[in-house]
Order: sequence, then structure tokens, then C-alpha cells
Amino acid sequence: MKTVLEIKNLTKRFEGLVAVKDVNITVKERQIHALIGPNGAGKTTTLSMINGTLEPTSGKILFGGQDITGMPAYKIAQKGLGRTFQNIKVFGSLTALENLMVGAMHNNNKGGVLRMLLCVKETNAMERTMREQALEVINEIGIYRLKDEYARNLPYGSQKVLELGRALMGKPKMILLDEPAAGLNTSERAEFVEILEKMYEKGIDLFLIEHNMDVVMNISHMITVLNFGQKIAEGTPSQIQSNPEVIRAYLGNRYKTIRKTEESRGNANAGR
Ligand SMILES: Nc1ncnc2c1ncn2[C@@H]1O[C@H](COP(=O)(O)OP(=O)(O)OP(=O)(O)O)[C@@H](O)[C@H]1O
Ligand SMILES: [Mg+2]
Repeated sequence: MKTVLEIKNLTKRFEGLVAVKDVNITVKERQIHALIGPNGAGKTTTLSMINGTLEPTSGKILFGGQDITGMPAYKIAQKGLGRTFQNIKVFGSLTALENLMVGAMHNNNKGGVLRMLLCVKETNAMERTMREQALEVINEIGIYRLKDEYARNLPYGSQKVLELGRALMGKPKMILLDEPAAGLNTSERAEFVEILEKMYEKGIDLFLIEHNMDVVMNISHMITVLNFGQKIAEGTPSQIQSNPEVIRAYLGNRYKTIRKTEESRGNANAGR
């Protein structure tokens, strides 16, 4: 299996605090890879270094074999690495469709904003292309009927889906997701997981941070566990569920709950 994303000895210091310490993760192609761990373990910090919103203190990040360490976020997005955020970042006063079009700006606007302003004809053509693409994406993520609603009026679950749609506008090879299911109710969560699976089947690789173990254990092929900035375990869902250090540091009693859920489903993960 080819490696898509490789994180080597990644470290991030904030003044006196080491948020991420010497972390190594290899993400293989066609694998849904999850990053889990307690609050403050360094998960978001790791994701931010991968997508270029934070500069690593040391270490290397390779995407598709290419060194992307310390590159600005927009360049990394252009290379096919999309991202969603832990706190929703949709623009409330834009419509759902316009939010998607904004998501495409980074990728399509090769000549910069000034060129766009100067060249009205080209801008119109670009806008048409973006609109067409946005309509395609909004259909794919199942919220076409909400396309003209202001984002601030959308239910929370649809805002989360919209954020995923924005990442899709960059035509990514891989999406980094920071707690995509947080705050969703059971049915919204099930819908979201379905969309993620659809994206994966379309050929997009997924790397996700998630606290909901039901989502993590059912969707992931591989899981990396962080604790106090360090990697403490890596493996398949069943390996992680039975790892004593992971149970002690993070899973606790939740592990038993998941096992029960899995058993009642006839152990759906068994073949993964
Ligand atoms: N910009 C920053 N400046 C200083 N400290 C920071 C900064 N960002 C994160 N930290 C600290 O780094 C540590 C790791 O934070 P991070 O947000 O990566 O954790 P996390 O695993 O995503 O947690 P959660 O599950 O709560 O989202 C925490 O102690 C946090 O307070
Ligand atoms: Mg976080």
C-alpha cells in the first residue's frame, strides 16, 4: 500500500508547553485513519501543522512524497489536502452555495485577487465555473434544498456538512477532519458518516480527529492515539480497543460500551 501522508518526528512547542512531541504517523492510501486521545493531547495542533495553519517547531511532513513542512495553508490546499475545523468556520451572512464558492477561491484564483478584479470577463467565467462546481458539491452532500439559505439559519448538522462541502470544493485527494461529528445528534451523525463513506468511496482519503468512539471504531481502518502530545498506540480498531495503555489513558469504560455495540452488530469491523 502506498503512503499518502507521512509525519516524521513532528514537534510543536508553545512557549513552555510541548503540545506535540516527536510524533510519527504514516497514513496509507485508501485507509481511513483516525487520530484520537484525551482533550489537550495535541490532536488539533497536529492537524494544523499538517495543513499549514501552524508551523512545526521541528519534524517533517510529506504529502504524496513531497515535503510540505511549513508551507502556507493555501499552497497545501492546492496540493490536494483539504481541512475542516473543530469550531465551525462557515460564513453566516453568506448563503450555503456562496459558502462553497468561497471555498473554491483559494484553489482557482491563480492570479490573485487583483488580477481577478482587473479582468472582469475572466472573473465572470470563473464565477460560473465555481457556481457549477458548488451546485455539484451541494448536491453530493445532500443539502441542495438549502442552497439559498443563509448559513447562520442552517441547523448545526447542516453547517457541519457545509463545512465538509467547502473542503470538497478544493477537489482534495485527502481531507483532514477535526471532530466532524461533535455536537451532532444521533441521526445527524449517521447522515454525516454516510457522507464521509461516500467521499471515501469516491477516492478521497480521510484523516480524522474524533471523540465519538462509535464513529471512530466503525469508520476507521487505522487509529493513532495521542496522549500528552505523544503517540502511545497505533493499530486497527480492535487492537486499539484492547490496548491497556489506551484504555487507561483514554477509552476507559467507553471501551466496554463499544464492544457491546460491536457484538450486537455481529462485529462489523472484523474484516477491516
Ligand atoms: N496557540 C496555542 N498557544 C498555546 N498553547 C496552545 C495553543 N494551541 C494549543 N495549545 C495547547 O496545546 C495543547 C494541545 O492542544 P490541542 O488543541 O492540540 O489538543 P486537542 O487534542 O485537539 O484537544 P481537544 O480534544 O480538546 O480538541 C493544549 O495544552 C493546548 O492548551
Ligand atoms: Mg482539538
